[in-house]
Amino acid sequence: MLSQWTQLETQCKECRQCGLCETRHHVVFGMGNPEADLLFIGEGPGENEDLQGLPFVGRAGQLLDKMLTAVDLDRNRDLYITNIVKCRPPQNRDPKPEEQEACIGWLRNQVSLMRPKMIVCLGRIAAMKLMKPDIKITKEHGQIFKKGNTLMMATLHPAALLRNPSSKPAAFEDYLKLREFLDHGFPEE
Ligand code: URA
Repeated sequence: MLSQWTQLETQCKECRQCGLCETRHHVVFGMGNPEADLLFIGEGPGENEDLQGLPFVGRAGQLLDKMLTAVDLDRNRDLYITNIVKCRPPQNRDPKPEEQEACIGWLRNQVSLMRPKMIVCLGRIAAMKLMKPDIKITKEHGQIFKKGNTLMMATLHPAALLRNPSSKPAAFEDYLKLREFLDHGFPEE
């Protein structure tokens, strides 16, 4: 376990623990404020993220920023954002269980250094890996789970909202909830 964020980032960017290192352009460690209360976790970098080395910078990321802005959340100030796997799976396929397992140590180290009050899982892959393997995200998004000392909530992946815009209002309720927590305290605080 590394005790310094910058040291962790440097080592992660040299990672060759799974086959995704062969096809990546950049390791996407994450971006935002590692001292914030909120940690957002997606599934893995897509093409734009792989090319730029930053998470959620494509169309899904633009929608994410719109929803964040609408509740006065700024990804550089109010949260940190990263992914389950730090390298792009070819053709944007789901990351394989062994790739997730090879990568999860980086995320665990990020969580233990950041100690966020709440982890927000963006989409099914992150929610299955971090919350519960049988989560039904269309039903259970917005519900608060407690895991150790950390609160957890899943919301619909912004890419899923691009494919299915009729789910946007339901997903936006989750963002309103986050605003409430930041303004009035997290549950059981
Ligand atoms: N989708 C994700 O899950 N993560 C990203 O960084 C971009 C798109």
